[in-house]
Amino acid sequence: MSENHSDTPVVIHRHAYRPPDWLVPTIALDFALDPQKTRVKARLQVKRNGDHNRPLKLDGNNQKLLAFSVDGQDAQSQVKQEKEGLVIALGGEAHTIETEVEISPESNSQLMGLYASSGLLCTQCEAEGFRRITYFPDRPDILSRYTVRMEADEKAFPVLLSNGNLTLEGKSENGRHFALWNDPFPKPCYLFALVAGNLAAYRDEFITQSGRKVALAIWVRPDDINKTHHAMNALKMAMAWDEKVYGREYDLDQFNIVAVDDFNFGAMENKSLNIFNSRYILADPDTATDADYDAIAGVVAHEYFHNWSGNRVTCRDWFQLSLKEGFTVFRDQSFSADLGSPAVKRIEDVRSLRAAQFPEDAGPLAHPIQPDSYIEISNFYTATVYNKGAEIIRMMHQLLGAEKFRKGTDLYFERHDGEAATCENFVAAMEEASGVDLTDFRHWYHQAGTPELKASLKWDGATKTATLTLSQKTAATPSQPEKQPVVLPVAIALIGKQTGKNLIGEQLLTLTKDSESYRFENLAEEPLLSINRHFSAPVTVENQVSPEDLAFLSANDDDPFARYEAMQQLMLDFMVARVRGEQVDPKTVINAVEKTLTNKDLDNAFIAEAVILPSENMVGEKLDIVDPKRIAEIRDDLRKMLGQTLEKLWQQAYQSCERPSYQYTPEAVGARRLKNVALSYLAAGELADAPSIAWLQFEKADNMTDRRGALDVLVNGFSPEREKALTAFYERYKGNALVIDKWFAVQAFSTRPDVIENVKKLAKHPDFTLKNPNRARALIGSFAHNARAFHDLSGEGYRFVTDMVIALDKINSQTAARMIAPFGRWQRYGSDRAEMMQNALKRILSTPDLSRDVFEQASKSLL
Ligand code: PHE
Ligand code: ZN
Repeated sequence: MSENHSDTPVVIHRHAYRPPDWLVPTIALDFALDPQKTRVKARLQVKRNGDHNRPLKLDGNNQKLLAFSVDGQDAQSQVKQEKEGLVIALGGEAHTIETEVEISPESNSQLMGLYASSGLLCTQCEAEGFRRITYFPDRPDILSRYTVRMEADEKAFPVLLSNGNLTLEGKSENGRHFALWNDPFPKPCYLFALVAGNLAAYRDEFITQSGRKVALAIWVRPDDINKTHHAMNALKMAMAWDEKVYGREYDLDQFNIVAVDDFNFGAMENKSLNIFNSRYILADPDTATDADYDAIAGVVAHEYFHNWSGNRVTCRDWFQLSLKEGFTVFRDQSFSADLGSPAVKRIEDVRSLRAAQFPEDAGPLAHPIQPDSYIEISNFYTATVYNKGAEIIRMMHQLLGAEKFRKGTDLYFERHDGEAATCENFVAAMEEASGVDLTDFRHWYHQAGTPELKASLKWDGATKTATLTLSQKTAATPSQPEKQPVVLPVAIALIGKQTGKNLIGEQLLTLTKDSESYRFENLAEEPLLSINRHFSAPVTVENQVSPEDLAFLSANDDDPFARYEAMQQLMLDFMVARVRGEQVDPKTVINAVEKTLTNKDLDNAFIAEAVILPSENMVGEKLDIVDPKRIAEIRDDLRKMLGQTLEKLWQQAYQSCERPSYQYTPEAVGARRLKNVALSYLAAGELADAPSIAWLQFEKADNMTDRRGALDVLVNGFSPEREKALTAFYERYKGNALVIDKWFAVQAFSTRPDVIENVKKLAKHPDFTLKNPNRARALIGSFAHNARAFHDLSGEGYRFVTDMVIALDKINSQTAARMIAPFGRWQRYGSDRAEMMQNALKRILSTPDLSRDVFEQASKSLL
């Protein structure tokens, strides 16, 4: 959308919501499927909503209108065709509207609407894809009953799936066959789905708490059938968990999941027909890492949980997106925590919040979990709406306690079942069911930015009293110069400085004002502050603590998360001081790592998390001007020191974590994790035999976690083993798209100075394509997050990503738009880099025919 572009994009405002003029109680769809030309007939029963004489508006784009009738009469001449839809004046209270359109799945590279993926035909409708399939009022507060007839060539598309129950199937003419599906639950059109293709099902069943039998099926390419077992187990566990923890039972006789290779996001919760990016379904030990296994369980549970939090109770409008997403992420996080180690899960979730959401909240794209406006809703499927949204639900869980929280969700589901609800409805239900006043808590929904929590603890030895002062401040964000204090549930403890004992147990302080003080009397000894335990509030903590005290807490705090935090803080403070040019002694950091490594009471998974240094980006967030090269040097240097000084311990950890053969148990996963962290420290220490240890591990690995762990290490170095491993990996897995994605990503993340040349070469590799979002993200997305390479002073990194964004926008604008955020942080860099980053954004904006998606992200990033 260049400056002379005539149609400035429309901005949609949260306050502009109006109930729909017309409702659509039922819709019957009839698909004559064909990859090149699909015909879609739709019959809508429409009903006037309220006393008005406004016309019926149907959204639609990218389709050819072939026929239009009202109550059985051709009405093509009365209907007004607008750029993004149809308008028709209607006289009565209820009418039947019939349309017929032609669409082309094969040329749909946006992957929104009906599209082709590796020989399948499938749909993606959230948020506004349904309008690319047929003319319809495409908004989530219109709930309709769907009947779907689909017909396709029987050989090419033997399996025909849609939402609800299969009511009839049979043969039709010319080698074609058909299926009829009927979904008894009224739903918004973004939950409509259809799949046709040559698929095989891995089947199982689940008996619900009330004794109903549900037929479960995971549909994949026939060759992949053996990679579905883990996902199926996760599904059954999720179904049982939702009954146990939320009292929510599945409501249909079938539940289908389909894996597709080309998908813009992770997965989609379409009613009874979840469609997944295949990377979140397919797994076996040879091709998927332990992290992949975790992600699969989490996403399968997430989509399943949406059946209640999203489908039975849906969103009134897209400003309520966090109603379903924040809540559902909280639910899937709790599920995964219950399944494995809650502390390690919390560490991982907080790490990704800090990596993705905190920077978003501190930059030009900052927005509240309920945004005020948008140009393109696809740009608001963000870490803020999802992950900060989940933190906000988690805070309510803490403020109310588990029992009252459950009363609140019961009331919410009961009250809004079958409705399109708002975030306010959710909070109101929580408030009423619990009796806890949430008036001030509501600021979280409308205020952007990460609050900074300052804590200071004063000790009075004479009276044995400690006074804790907490204060909060949220920095201004775009269009929100003034901020109000938010409600912060801060879990704290006091840890004896001598004994390491928790002196007061855990206390939940609720900070509601700018600042508040708390007194703790009769303490047995001088305490250290354990603050924001289990990350009770999504804030940054400013707390002046000496390295010695942090080291002490990292060894003694009784909350594992707080112990992890103390260690992170210790490492971060050290690196930040070094970047600033201060002379600081690494001894405290090294000793603390040593203590953790040798602590027999800790499990391997926790140790592995605790000894990993905070990322380069986290160091950058602490500095006024980010110099990625210097940060990388300092961080590499500390890793090298740790690698060398603790060499024996890394070797011991490595050996003690070796197992005779692969198992998938929490114990084995933890051991692999620590083993690979130890390997990376051995390599960081530049020990002469590190490449051969890595190569040996690579060669004899019987699982992807170890193979990938070895490759991660080798790819950063210059050893001959590097090329050997990359070639062997490629040869072994060529043709397996998900694993070849890893091959691209590993190289894009390399710390070698020549990564940019290599990435440019990889962009010309025959296996590279911008058409597949996983592949595009593996190379370009990974590279854009490789701070030292992306921000190289030559500007080559910026240039490469800019070229790719511009090219990708023509193919898949949603995926392109998601690669712009790193440029938006230009204000944080020195003028040399800042100028190049701004120029990159300007170059993107000057591209003719830019999508709304990319226009919104690039123009906002420039402000
Ligand atoms: N609603 C999906 C989820 O979070 C995400 C999604 C959004 C998928 C838009 C596709 C398109 O579960
Ligand atoms: Zn979701």
